[in-house]
Amino acid sequence: MIHLKRFTLIVILLVFSRHPFAMAQNPYFSQYQRSIQGVIANMLPNGAVVASPSLNQPNYYYDWVRDTSLTMKTMIRLNADQNINNLTKKAISRRLETWVDWELARQETPKLTDLGEPRFYVDGRSNREPWGRPQNDGPALRALAAMELAQQWINIGRLDDVQLKLYKAELPARTMIKRDLEYIAHHWTESSFDLWEEERGMHFYTMVAQKVALIKGAKIARYFNDLDAAHFYETQAASIEQYLTAFIDHSKGTIKYAINKEGGLPHKLSDLDVAVLLIAIETFDGKFYVPLNEVIKTVNQLAQSFQKIYPINQIQKMKSGTNLGIAMGRYPDDRYSGFDFSNGNPWFLSTLALAEFACDLQKTGLASLAKNKLMNTAEAQFNRVLFHLNQDGSMSEQFRRDNGYEQGARDLTWSYTSYITAYRACF
Ligand code: NOJ
Ligand code: NOJ
Repeated sequence: MIHLKRFTLIVILLVFSRHPFAMAQNPYFSQYQRSIQGVIANMLPNGAVVASPSLNQPNYYYDWVRDTSLTMKTMIRLNADQNINNLTKKAISRRLETWVDWELARQETPKLTDLGEPRFYVDGRSNREPWGRPQNDGPALRALAAMELAQQWINIGRLDDVQLKLYKAELPARTMIKRDLEYIAHHWTESSFDLWEEERGMHFYTMVAQKVALIKGAKIARYFNDLDAAHFYETQAASIEQYLTAFIDHSKGTIKYAINKEGGLPHKLSDLDVAVLLIAIETFDGKFYVPLNEVIKTVNQLAQSFQKIYPINQIQKMKSGTNLGIAMGRYPDDRYSGFDFSNGNPWFLSTLALAEFACDLQKTGLASLAKNKLMNTAEAQFNRVLFHLNQDGSMSEQFRRDNGYEQGARDLTWSYTSYITAYRACF
């Protein structure tokens, strides 16, 4: 009896010591854990990650390179985190290995638009339905994820594995990162579809991802004594940087999400898109790789416009007095309802992106921005998400603009990922 009690106590202590915030009554922590499990549930044994288990209305049962890359970058970070319990870590680290093999195979799978191919069936075949392709953010986001894994492997002495699978100084490239970097460096001047798979053109989101991938790519190239490549990647990154100045709207002080569009959606009228915010946080590593003042202004305008557009934003406080932040969507004129084109809604990942941005800004310590104001903004965004969340913590793609109920693909991997990254940035 006494032994049992002591044992229980030790177990409790062990559990809590791994989760410092569990005791600190952080109201956002349990959904953080729930989100990690949400991601793990969507990782298949063969290394594929389904965007969502939803098979119809909409069918998201594919592996999208973008969703998977953003998610795996987050899993790679969790894998190196002391506070993650062993069971979860085991599940993750196993999947990291299979994911690498999955991506290497996908790079080789025959497909319509080379590495710009946006998505695959979960058995690995490429998808050939009519679709917005290529989407050239994919290789950049994948390289950014894989380079973090390469660093982890280097740290633990797995240098041979890195050179076997991730980066080797050779052409033609046969390793994952090197292939992606070569693709980016040779194709960034070409137009492609945006992250929303709707418009072909030159996209701020895609180009920032490409720029940062090449900057970091040059470092890994140099590490492996691939000096010509390092120089080539740097030169291309500098050219992208130069090109990116064309996205600044000087009259408004904001960023246009796209330029040189080829056709485009007739109903997408404004230059505002949350993609600008997303790529700011997705590339943040203690410093920003985007023109910060213009991004801040863009984000403010987006928030103001979503505030007006979505009726649920009229509720700004709970009865308890808790502040509810702004439910954010993709862009003001969005009509994608999650399965048809009846009406756009707020998205979890956009709403959480604002929280993450506020916390990233807080870290950069810009004197002009009050710290506690940023933290209040972030917490209000989390409150908004928890307010509309299903009871069981499952997160779909969107929640309805009129009543806040979840809508669109259920258990969207990217929604969970966005909660995890926002939480880690803030707490
Ligand atoms: C499905 C999704 O890719 C979504 O982003 C898009 O709005 C619709 N297809 C229409 O292209
Ligand atoms: C539609 C989104 O617009 C796109 O960005 C995403 O990759 C797919 N859904 C899959 O989640």
